[in-house]
Amino acid sequence: MQRIAVFASGRGSNFRSLLEAERSGGCPGHIVLLLGDKAGAGAVAYARGQGIETFVVPSKKTKGRLSLEEESAFRDACLAAKIDWICLAGFMRILRGPLLEAFQGRIVNIHPALLPAFPGLDAQKQAFDYGAKLTGCTVHLVDAGVDTGPIVVQRSVEVLENDTVATLADRILEAEHAIYPEALRRLLGEKWERRGRRIVFQPRKDKP
Ligand code: GRF
Repeated sequence: MQRIAVFASGRGSNFRSLLEAERSGGCPGHIVLLLGDKAGAGAVAYARGQGIETFVVPSKKTKGRLSLEEESAFRDACLAAKIDWICLAGFMRILRGPLLEAFQGRIVNIHPALLPAFPGLDAQKQAFDYGAKLTGCTVHLVDAGVDTGPIVVQRSVEVLENDTVATLADRILEAEHAIYPEALRRLLGEKWERRGRRIVFQPRKDKP
């Protein structure tokens, strides 16, 4: 069973959806650790309530790159817990090196837009303000850039005429909760390879 660590800074609804998928048999990995940079985050409280180990490196920063010391502490915690895969789920800080080196190609992130459109913060508002008619969410592997790694799964969400940023963000979040477990299931449970930037899954027998 592959061991998974989830990183979250906030309420943790994506963390929760991953955990629920695991518990209903919908994910071939085991979430053993929740890491974060905010001791009071909803995700941390939820993990504790579920009996999942937590590791917090508290920071006042709400965005930007982790310091080398912070990222090294996270890396050491993941190595000590013998983690195979890392899922960033609303972790608001950017990785700079130690984790990327130690878990190369095994860090996944979810972003609330159809990358490469609208990377970075407030992606739902970016799409809304731009006037996009279609946006969505993306699960991708993490590299040293901001939301630039190879794409694993995407789902589109229509922008409706009467949407506000909040109603749009809610529908995108629903789609996120569906595709993050799906992406993990595919990465951990299927045969796939990287061809340049492309992640190519071997065709499934049940699909033409
Ligand atoms: C999600 O929209 C995710 O795509 C983004 O941050 C938000 C986190 O939400 N990276 P939650 O904490 O998982 O509820």
